[in-house]
Amino acid sequence: MNSHLPTALPGCLLRPWRAADKDDLVAQANNRKVWRNMTHTFPHPYTPEDADLWLAIAANPGASLQLAIEVDGRAAGGIGAISGEGIFQATAQFGYWLGEDYWGRGIAGAAARALADRIGSEGLFARLEAQVFEWNPASMRVLEKAGFSRDAVLRCAATKDGRIIDTMLYSRVFR
Ligand SMILES: CC(C)(COP(=O)(O)OP(=O)(O)OC[C@H]1O[C@@H](n2cnc3c(N)ncnc32)[C@H](O)[C@@H]1OP(=O)(O)O)[C@@H](O)C(=O)NCCC(=O)NCCS
Repeated sequence: MNSHLPTALPGCLLRPWRAADKDDLVAQANNRKVWRNMTHTFPHPYTPEDADLWLAIAANPGASLQLAIEVDGRAAGGIGAISGEGIFQATAQFGYWLGEDYWGRGIAGAAARALADRIGSEGLFARLEAQVFEWNPASMRVLEKAGFSRDAVLRCAATKDGRIIDTMLYSRVFR
Protein backbone atom coordinates (compact mmCIF):
# COMPACT_ATOMS: atom_id res chain seq x y z
CA MET A 1 0.00 0.00 0.00
CA ASN A 2 2.02 2.93 -1.27
CA SER A 3 -0.64 5.58 -1.62
CA HIS A 4 -2.35 7.82 0.89
CA LEU A 5 -5.29 6.34 2.74
CA PRO A 6 -7.85 8.83 4.04
CA THR A 7 -9.55 8.40 7.40
CA ALA A 8 -12.95 9.64 8.51
CA LEU A 9 -11.25 12.49 10.41
CA PRO A 10 -10.47 15.67 8.45
CA GLY A 11 -6.71 16.33 8.36
CA CYS A 12 -5.84 12.75 9.31
CA LEU A 13 -4.52 10.27 6.76
CA LEU A 14 -2.25 7.23 6.57
CA ARG A 15 0.75 7.27 4.27
CA PRO A 16 4.23 5.79 3.90
CA TRP A 17 6.91 6.99 6.30
CA ARG A 18 9.36 9.55 4.88
CA ALA A 19 12.94 10.44 5.83
CA ALA A 20 11.66 13.93 6.63
CA ASP A 21 9.51 12.47 9.44
CA LYS A 22 12.58 11.80 11.58
CA ASP A 23 12.27 14.76 13.96
CA ASP A 24 8.53 14.29 14.48
CA LEU A 25 9.09 10.56 14.98
CA VAL A 26 11.65 11.07 17.74
CA ALA A 27 9.60 13.83 19.38
CA GLN A 28 6.44 11.71 19.56
CA ALA A 29 7.94 8.26 20.14
CA ASN A 30 10.35 9.25 22.90
CA ASN A 31 7.73 8.96 25.62
CA ARG A 32 7.58 6.39 28.38
CA LYS A 33 3.77 6.43 28.28
CA VAL A 34 3.90 5.28 24.66
CA TRP A 35 6.70 2.75 25.29
CA ARG A 36 4.79 1.23 28.23
CA ASN A 37 2.06 0.00 25.89
CA MET A 38 4.25 -1.32 23.10
CA THR A 39 6.18 -4.57 22.59
CA HIS A 40 9.89 -4.95 23.23
CA THR A 41 10.74 -3.87 19.67
CA PHE A 42 9.81 -0.26 20.57
CA PRO A 43 12.79 1.32 22.38
CA HIS A 44 12.97 3.79 25.24
CA PRO A 45 14.52 6.28 25.19
CA TYR A 46 13.77 6.63 21.48
CA THR A 47 16.87 8.15 19.87
CA PRO A 48 17.55 9.65 16.43
CA GLU A 49 19.42 6.41 15.65
CA ASP A 50 16.30 4.41 16.52
CA ALA A 51 14.34 6.63 14.13
CA ASP A 52 16.87 5.99 11.34
CA LEU A 53 16.53 2.25 11.88
CA TRP A 54 12.74 2.43 11.87
CA LEU A 55 12.59 4.57 8.73
CA ALA A 56 14.82 2.03 6.93
CA ILE A 57 12.59 -0.87 8.05
CA ALA A 58 9.42 0.97 7.05
CA ALA A 59 10.85 1.75 3.61
CA ASN A 60 11.07 -2.00 2.87
CA PRO A 61 8.13 -3.61 4.63
CA GLY A 62 7.87 -6.71 2.41
CA ALA A 63 4.46 -8.35 2.87
CA SER A 64 3.81 -6.21 5.94
CA LEU A 65 2.31 -2.71 6.03
CA GLN A 66 3.92 0.14 7.95
CA LEU A 67 2.38 3.59 7.65
CA ALA A 68 2.66 6.94 9.36
CA ILE A 69 -0.45 8.49 10.88
CA GLU A 70 -0.34 12.04 9.53
CA VAL A 71 -2.31 14.77 11.31
CA ASP A 72 -2.40 18.27 9.86
CA GLY A 73 0.70 17.56 7.78
CA ARG A 74 2.84 16.11 10.60
CA ALA A 75 3.72 12.52 11.46
CA ALA A 76 1.79 11.92 14.67
CA GLY A 77 2.32 8.17 15.10
CA GLY A 78 2.45 4.86 13.32
CA ILE A 79 0.17 2.01 12.34
CA GLY A 80 0.88 -1.30 10.69
CA ALA A 81 0.15 -4.94 10.07
CA ILE A 82 3.04 -7.37 10.33
CA SER A 83 2.60 -10.41 8.13
CA GLY A 84 2.82 -13.88 9.62
CA GLU A 85 4.94 -16.59 8.02
CA GLY A 86 4.30 -20.11 6.77
CA ILE A 87 0.89 -21.36 7.85
CA PHE A 88 0.26 -17.93 9.41
CA GLN A 89 0.80 -15.97 6.20
CA ALA A 90 -2.86 -14.87 6.09
CA THR A 91 -2.64 -13.50 9.65
CA ALA A 92 -1.11 -10.14 10.49
CA GLN A 93 -0.24 -8.57 13.83
CA PHE A 94 -2.04 -5.24 13.86
CA GLY A 95 -0.53 -2.40 15.86
CA TYR A 96 -0.46 1.37 16.27
CA TRP A 97 0.77 4.16 18.46
CA LEU A 98 0.13 7.87 18.64
CA GLY A 99 2.18 10.67 20.20
CA GLU A 100 0.70 11.94 23.46
CA ASP A 101 0.08 15.39 21.94
CA TYR A 102 -2.61 13.77 19.80
CA TRP A 103 -4.41 11.51 22.29
CA GLY A 104 -8.12 11.77 23.01
CA ARG A 105 -9.27 13.11 19.63
CA GLY A 106 -10.48 9.90 18.00
CA ILE A 107 -7.39 9.69 15.81
CA ALA A 108 -6.25 6.14 16.61
CA GLY A 109 -9.78 4.81 16.22
CA ALA A 110 -10.17 6.47 12.84
CA ALA A 111 -6.73 5.28 11.71
CA ALA A 112 -7.35 1.70 12.83
CA ARG A 113 -10.76 1.64 11.16
CA ALA A 114 -9.37 2.97 7.88
CA LEU A 115 -6.46 0.53 7.69
CA ALA A 116 -8.40 -2.54 8.81
CA ASP A 117 -11.21 -1.79 6.34
CA ARG A 118 -8.70 -1.35 3.50
CA ILE A 119 -6.90 -4.60 4.37
CA GLY A 120 -10.25 -6.36 4.26
CA SER A 121 -11.45 -4.76 1.03
CA GLU A 122 -8.15 -5.53 -0.73
CA GLY A 123 -8.00 -9.06 0.67
CA LEU A 124 -4.48 -8.52 2.00
CA PHE A 125 -4.96 -10.72 5.07
CA ALA A 126 -7.77 -12.98 6.31
CA ARG A 127 -7.15 -12.22 9.97
CA LEU A 128 -5.82 -9.27 11.92
CA GLU A 129 -4.93 -9.74 15.54
CA ALA A 130 -3.66 -7.56 18.35
CA GLN A 131 -2.70 -8.13 21.97
CA VAL A 132 -3.47 -5.27 24.34
CA PHE A 133 -1.96 -5.00 27.80
CA GLU A 134 -4.38 -5.32 30.70
CA TRP A 135 -3.87 -1.66 31.72
CA ASN A 136 -4.75 -0.19 28.31
CA PRO A 137 -8.55 0.12 28.01
CA ALA A 138 -8.22 3.01 25.52
CA SER A 139 -6.55 0.68 23.04
CA MET A 140 -9.20 -2.00 23.60
CA ARG A 141 -11.77 0.62 22.68
CA VAL A 142 -9.78 1.64 19.60
CA LEU A 143 -9.88 -1.96 18.38
CA GLU A 144 -13.60 -2.26 19.07
CA LYS A 145 -14.19 0.94 17.07
CA ALA A 146 -12.21 -0.67 14.22
CA GLY A 147 -14.40 -3.77 14.10
CA PHE A 148 -12.29 -6.11 16.24
CA SER A 149 -13.69 -8.37 18.92
CA ARG A 150 -12.07 -9.99 21.94
CA ASP A 151 -11.03 -13.61 21.44
CA ALA A 152 -9.44 -14.32 24.79
CA VAL A 153 -7.63 -13.15 27.87
CA LEU A 154 -4.08 -14.50 27.72
CA ARG A 155 -3.19 -14.82 31.38
CA CYS A 156 0.33 -13.81 32.44
CA ALA A 157 1.33 -13.63 28.76
CA ALA A 158 3.66 -10.62 28.78
CA THR A 159 6.39 -9.09 30.91
CA LYS A 160 6.32 -5.30 30.70
CA ASP A 161 7.66 -2.53 32.89
CA GLY A 162 8.79 -5.04 35.50
CA ARG A 163 5.47 -6.86 35.77
CA ILE A 164 3.95 -10.06 34.42
CA ILE A 165 0.60 -9.07 32.97
CA ASP A 166 -2.41 -10.44 31.13
CA THR A 167 -2.97 -9.45 27.52
CA MET A 168 -6.32 -9.23 25.76
CA LEU A 169 -6.30 -10.92 22.37
CA TYR A 170 -8.45 -9.12 19.79
CA SER A 171 -9.07 -10.10 16.18
CA ARG A 172 -10.94 -9.11 13.07
CA VAL A 173 -11.48 -11.63 10.29
CA PHE A 174 -12.60 -11.08 6.72
CA ARG A 175 -14.28 -14.34 5.76
C1 LIG B 1 -4.12 3.90 22.95
C2 LIG B 1 -4.01 5.03 21.93
C3 LIG B 1 -3.66 4.43 20.58
C4 LIG B 1 -5.37 5.74 21.86
O1 LIG B 1 -5.30 6.75 20.86
P1 LIG B 1 -6.45 7.87 20.77
O2 LIG B 1 -6.34 8.55 19.46
O3 LIG B 1 -6.42 8.70 22.00
O4 LIG B 1 -7.75 6.92 20.78
P2 LIG B 1 -9.22 7.35 20.34
O5 LIG B 1 -9.45 8.77 20.76
O6 LIG B 1 -9.47 6.97 18.93
O7 LIG B 1 -10.12 6.35 21.19
C5 LIG B 1 -9.86 6.10 22.56
C6 LIG B 1 -11.13 5.50 23.15
O8 LIG B 1 -10.80 4.96 24.41
C7 LIG B 1 -11.63 5.54 25.38
N1 LIG B 1 -10.86 5.62 26.60
C8 LIG B 1 -9.81 6.42 26.88
N2 LIG B 1 -9.36 6.15 28.11
C9 LIG B 1 -10.13 5.16 28.60
C10 LIG B 1 -10.16 4.46 29.83
N3 LIG B 1 -9.28 4.71 30.82
N4 LIG B 1 -11.07 3.48 29.99
C11 LIG B 1 -11.95 3.19 29.01
N5 LIG B 1 -11.99 3.84 27.80
C12 LIG B 1 -11.07 4.80 27.63
C13 LIG B 1 -12.01 6.90 24.83
O9 LIG B 1 -13.20 7.39 25.42
C14 LIG B 1 -12.20 6.54 23.37
O10 LIG B 1 -13.44 5.87 23.13
P3 LIG B 1 -14.71 6.66 22.47
O11 LIG B 1 -14.27 7.13 21.13
O12 LIG B 1 -15.76 5.60 22.42
O13 LIG B 1 -15.03 7.78 23.43
C15 LIG B 1 -2.93 6.08 22.34
O14 LIG B 1 -3.20 6.51 23.64
C16 LIG B 1 -1.53 5.52 22.29
O15 LIG B 1 -0.90 5.52 21.26
N6 LIG B 1 -1.04 5.00 23.43
C17 LIG B 1 0.32 4.47 23.53
C18 LIG B 1 0.59 3.31 22.58
C19 LIG B 1 -0.49 2.25 22.58
O16 LIG B 1 -1.19 2.04 23.55
N7 LIG B 1 -0.63 1.56 21.44
C20 LIG B 1 -1.56 0.47 21.31
C21 LIG B 1 -0.91 -0.81 21.78
S1 LIG B 1 -2.08 -2.16 21.77
